[in-house]
Amino acid sequence: MSKKIKVAIVGCGHRSEVYASYSLKEPEKMSIVAVVDPNDIRLNRIGDKFHVSRENRFHSVEEFLEKKIIADAVINGTMDRIHHETAIPLLKAGYHMLLEKPIALSKKELLDIYHTAKDNHCKVMICHVLRYTPFYRTIKQMIMDGTLGEVFQIITEENVSFHHMATAFVRGKWNSSLTCGSEIMMAKCCHDLDVISWLKSGVAPKYVSSMGGLYLYKKEKAPVGSGMKCLVDCKIESTCQYSARKMYLDSNVWNFYAREYLDRFEDRDTMERLEWSLRENNPMGRCVWQCDNNVMDHQSVMIKYEDGSVATHILSTGTARPSRTIHVIGTKAEIYGDMTEGAIYLRKHDLTVKDKGENLYEEIKIDCNAGGGHGGGDERLSEDFCHFIEGTSTSISSTEIGDSIYGHMIGFDADVAMKENRVVLIDLEMEKV
Ligand SMILES: NC(=O)c1ccc[n+]([C@@H]2O[C@H](COP(=O)([O-])OP(=O)(O)OC[C@H]3O[C@@H](n4cnc5c(N)ncnc54)[C@H](O)[C@@H]3O)[C@@H](O)[C@H]2O)c1
Repeated sequence: MSKKIKVAIVGCGHRSEVYASYSLKEPEKMSIVAVVDPNDIRLNRIGDKFHVSRENRFHSVEEFLEKKIIADAVINGTMDRIHHETAIPLLKAGYHMLLEKPIALSKKELLDIYHTAKDNHCKVMICHVLRYTPFYRTIKQMIMDGTLGEVFQIITEENVSFHHMATAFVRGKWNSSLTCGSEIMMAKCCHDLDVISWLKSGVAPKYVSSMGGLYLYKKEKAPVGSGMKCLVDCKIESTCQYSARKMYLDSNVWNFYAREYLDRFEDRDTMERLEWSLRENNPMGRCVWQCDNNVMDHQSVMIKYEDGSVATHILSTGTARPSRTIHVIGTKAEIYGDMTEGAIYLRKHDLTVKDKGENLYEEIKIDCNAGGGHGGGDERLSEDFCHFIEGTSTSISSTEIGDSIYGHMIGFDADVAMKENRVVLIDLEMEKV
């Protein structure tokens, strides 16, 4: 029988709550024994939700470490900029870790975390939740089974909808590399770059190039009649697709992000408080053409692997439909998949298929619908993390830190390539991975 793992939460925000919820669903497998967050409201909300005693609630990693709390592992769900400063002392103290992506802000920080974990015999798993979705797992399994033959071209697309883009990367906390620390390629697409590297099964990336820019969400593009705040001085609010009223009051798709700024109000969950804040100082009330954002709104990355194969990832934002698509081309067959549709099409070369006119291939459709966060990936990742810590067998999706390095190196170097208009040689030898 598997043992129950004891976990401390560092960073009591959205993501930690998602992974820690596994302890409520499977209390025999995971329990939360301590919480850490400088924000009292969040600390106590999550502490209460996961039944953590008052004496095991801490305002900093230092306080937590002083108490020498007995725990097998830590869920590190702090924001990107805080990963390194919180991860290093926790790893030095010997705690295993579930660490959110992106691992860190730079190659230097990433390798520091990697080597500190190794030196202290700590296991670190990265929250690459897409690997745990039935959609990508099915594709990985088909590649592992040899169904496609040798994979020599992968094309992936991530289409970030206009409402998601506005909330997270224009008005929200991932909108600026200066404050968040990450560029959009790392903040949003490190999942896709990770999936590509995972599907290439250990083949090292060699070269990367990238182009992109910030085209739309800037002052020069503000339409006539727009103001500074949707609910205050905008004359086109009723017809604007970026209206804060439509996004956070009339529809509740993203209003949990808008409520993030209301922690100090007792009535934070009411619509009245939310509407008031959108008029006052809630960043989500800002006109999308008048924000302090600097991250790209479109970017493409090309990677050449050591075996001569090539992959391309295209990030588009402001799309009507949110989706991820993938096209994998192998020597025997190809796959085309649309994650939103939940469908994978396996197309095999077949000269005997005559009834489809010129289509000399066999097509098999595989349905991959699944519920839950990130297509069910969030919960499966928490389960796999328990197995990872216990040392029992993990799934094919397992994202031990060593497996996540190639995807991150591609992302960091893609941004260098884009900014310097050049092809970058990914020198893994030099990085001593
Ligand atoms: N895997 C995914 O698909 C996915 C999706 C969204 C976000 N993320 C990543 O997850 C991470 C967390 O995002 P979030 O939206 O949950 O953030 P959040 O802002 O909701 O939570 C972060 C928490 O960390 C706390 N914190 C700040 N400094 C701290 C410190 N020194 N020690 C301990 N706690 C501290 C904050 O008070 C906050 O409560 C980010 O790195 C983000 O990029 C991953």
